[in-house]
Amino acid sequence: MKLEVDQLVKRYGGTTALDSLTLRVADARVLALIGPSGGGKSTLLRVLGGLETPDSGTVMVNSRPLPAGEVGLIPYRRRNGFLFQQFNLFPHLTALENIALPLEKAHGLDRGAARDTASAALGRFGLSSHAHKLPAQLSGGQQQRVGIARAVAHQPEVLFLDEPTSALDPEMTAEVLELVQELAEAGQHIVLSTHEMGFAREVADEVAFIADGRVAEHAPPARFFNEPASPDSSRFLSRVMRW
Ligand SMILES: Nc1ncnc2c1ncn2[C@@H]1O[C@H](COP(=O)(O)OP(=O)(O)O)[C@@H](O)[C@H]1O
Ligand SMILES: [Mg+2]
Repeated sequence: MKLEVDQLVKRYGGTTALDSLTLRVADARVLALIGPSGGGKSTLLRVLGGLETPDSGTVMVNSRPLPAGEVGLIPYRRRNGFLFQQFNLFPHLTALENIALPLEKAHGLDRGAARDTASAALGRFGLSSHAHKLPAQLSGGQQQRVGIARAVAHQPEVLFLDEPTSALDPEMTAEVLELVQELAEAGQHIVLSTHEMGFAREVADEVAFIADGRVAEHAPPARFFNEPASPDSSRFLSRVMRW
């Protein structure tokens, strides 16, 4: 995927979440956003995913400008996939229905085709045995895997993941990250925010370090983790990698 983000500003009342953020990614399959809490990662993901409109600045995804109004953003969102930290599934629907419903309502598949596609998506990730369970009957890791299966069932151009494992214990974190890695290896373009530095290092093609609403550093992971160039990223890494 190619990203051209220029001078992006997003304010919430008196808080400047994105402060003229600029980021150029020429050709990456997986871009990892890392950095301190409150730095602007989620806001950037929501803008890139078309869930939030910036106050100013421009965004081009794969050489096409992000649509400005709601009318253009609806098809844009449908073309992509999104997963948050938690609570991604409708609690009153089974895993299968959680995937089938949006395929039917947003993507126009008929009921049978939607269920077949949903079933195939669950199968692809080894989740078939959970098809008829409600989210409450699944572990957090299984819920996130179903959430990812839903986010990719319609073959999104870009998959946006906002700290998909931060609410999970280490074992569930591993099972979700393995799935994300599998998707990346299958060629899925992904932008994710994460605190899993080992994962970012292994799976990302590029890492953007975001703090105070700006990109403080942007580099391939080998360079970023071995010789961080900015004082902020080097301080951050020495703290989070210490334990
Ligand atoms: N919906 C919102 N309303 C008010 N302030 C927000 C909202 N979303 C984010 N912010 C603020 O914007 C800044 C960036 O937040 P966020 O994008 O969530 O950072 P990160 O994901 O890196 O932790 C923070 O100061 C946060 O409190
Ligand atoms: Mg966040």
